[in-house]
Amino acid sequence: VEAALADGPLAGRHVVVTSGPTHEPIDPVRYIANRSSGAQGTAIAAALVALGARVSFVTGPASVPPPPGVEVVSVETARQMRDAVMAALPADAGVFAAAVADWRVANAADRKMKKDGSGTPPALEFAENPDILAEISGLTEGRPALVVGFAAETDNVVAHATAKRARKGCDWILANDVSEGTGIMGGSENEVTLISDAGAETWPRMGKDAVARQLAQRIAEALA
Ligand code: CTP
Ligand code: CA
Repeated sequence: VEAALADGPLAGRHVVVTSGPTHEPIDPVRYIANRSSGAQGTAIAAALVALGARVSFVTGPASVPPPPGVEVVSVETARQMRDAVMAALPADAGVFAAAVADWRVANAADRKMKKDGSGTPPALEFAENPDILAEISGLTEGRPALVVGFAAETDNVVAHATAKRARKGCDWILANDVSEGTGIMGGSENEVTLISDAGAETWPRMGKDAVARQLAQRIAEALA
């Protein structure tokens, strides 16, 4: 195995992968989160390892275990994920597959919130989390040569994803349609469109592992 890894097309390359959801505390016993199993990010990290890459795997609390062979950095919140990604740099490529919570609770309590008997629920206030993909894409020093983001959309998938790519400044976006009926959220298959300078390229629907292998192959070609 060691010899095979040393020979892979990504041998000597370092890739940072984010995966899973983030959890944003409300109080010590409650949180808000995104729906994400971490399956696609985990499959991508495994496929990169299979091609010989050293992978820093920055993961929120996912429901699938991290793949063998990666350097796991476990985080809970978006801000911890951001700090862990920065600490993992420099990297040749970054793949940002995490479902990061866009907002955290600004008035999180440090003790368990209790019902006070009045019937009035507590009011949560929110603050916007750092956009990790945009921040890494915008680095003037130490930016990975290839920055890949994801765009899970429910309508106008390519238009939304193309705008998102421009707004965030990443090189590639893998867009997918996660609307009900596609069965992609929580399923084992994915159907993605790769958006790059070259335009939009839709891949056939396939297993998440196959999407991961194809993406890893494309990353290897881009870095070669
Ligand atoms: N992302 C990130 N940090 C955030 C939010 C998103 O790194 N705080 C990354 C995701 O990992 C993904 C890409 O940005 O690769 C797009 O995430 P998405 O939620 O689709 O984009 P948003 O800019 O948050 O837009 P939306 O309002 O559609 O949620
Ligand atoms: Ca978002």
